[in-house]
Amino acid sequence: EKAGYKHFMAKEIAEQPVVIADALKHYTGGGVNPALHLPEGVDFSGVDRITMVACGTASFACHVAKYWFEQIAGLPAEIDIASEFRYREPPLSDKSWAIFVSQSGETADTLAALRYAKERVAKVVSVVNVPTSSIARESDLSLPILAGVEVGVASTKAFTCQLTVLALLAIKAGLDRGRLDAEAARELLGALRNLPGLMNHALALSAPIAAIAEELAEAQDVLFLGRGAMYPLALEGALKLKEISYIHAEGYASGELKHGPIALIDARVPVIVLAPRDGLFDKTVSNMQEVMARHGKVLLISDAAGVAEAGAGTWRTLTLPEVPAAFAPILYAVPAQLLAYHTAIAKGTDVDQPRNLAKSVTVE
Ligand code: M6R
Repeated sequence: EKAGYKHFMAKEIAEQPVVIADALKHYTGGGVNPALHLPEGVDFSGVDRITMVACGTASFACHVAKYWFEQIAGLPAEIDIASEFRYREPPLSDKSWAIFVSQSGETADTLAALRYAKERVAKVVSVVNVPTSSIARESDLSLPILAGVEVGVASTKAFTCQLTVLALLAIKAGLDRGRLDAEAARELLGALRNLPGLMNHALALSAPIAAIAEELAEAQDVLFLGRGAMYPLALEGALKLKEISYIHAEGYASGELKHGPIALIDARVPVIVLAPRDGLFDKTVSNMQEVMARHGKVLLISDAAGVAEAGAGTWRTLTLPEVPAAFAPILYAVPAQLLAYHTAIAKGTDVDQPRNLAKSVTVE
């Protein structure tokens, strides 16, 4: 039930701090010193690469995780959309793992991709929300994301719980491959454990986000920009907005702006810039200034330092708490979800049952 919320989506957005804390407790123990409690078969020694396959929002979780596996564990990671993967017949290494990510565990293309990979890789791993699902059952090893039932067609808490479990896998890979020592791993786990508290601050921005959404609802087209692991979050923010508000939205890596999409910019196009004050901030800000020079309406989502440094001249800003750079996409997912939610409310669309969409896509 909706527990007093107007929509399942609102309830599921609000639940994120609790379900992520629960998942972390399950996988890192309840004590002061976090330690990884993953199933025995999760051992990345000898694994030469991973291929992650999924659809929609789950595929964007894989995109984010690619940065983690590469940066934290030095493990080459490929990502594929399930519907492309299965027909491309990609060659796979028998020392590699294939990781399938799915909320429902029943997505037809993802399941077919899993069956293709099964005989060709060392291990088929799934990251699912429904532990009794076909994808969970047909995997060699399945990790539940423990998000609880997700009813809203627009995936929210499943996305951030998928990210949480994928982050834990990346940390385990870092340890197994000798890229991380125990102390560095503990620090990363500690940073993950701080996320639920930070997410509560992000949820508290609901009212200012609703005010921004009133104006966003007038737009025909919206662009989302990000760099590094914030780039896939830009893709996710755009998907969320188009799914439930029916506004055309695209996500781009900020650096791609001048390779085409900048031609779209004028005073009617809101551009949402996801930019924590990290090592890539200056580059993103210079892209943002190119947008502003063409009268684009910039919404800068950053932390206090980022807003103080680059907020001048923007249309609007939103200030999130500071977060360790690696895990910023988990925190920044919250304002992206709330923007889509409140824009849909402003437009009066059916938030939980958007037109033409199904919660689980069991036909290809
Ligand atoms: O159940 P799955 O995670 O396999 O579903 C994949 C996509 O169909 C799903 O994420 C879809 O893109 C959502 N409607 C996104 O909000």
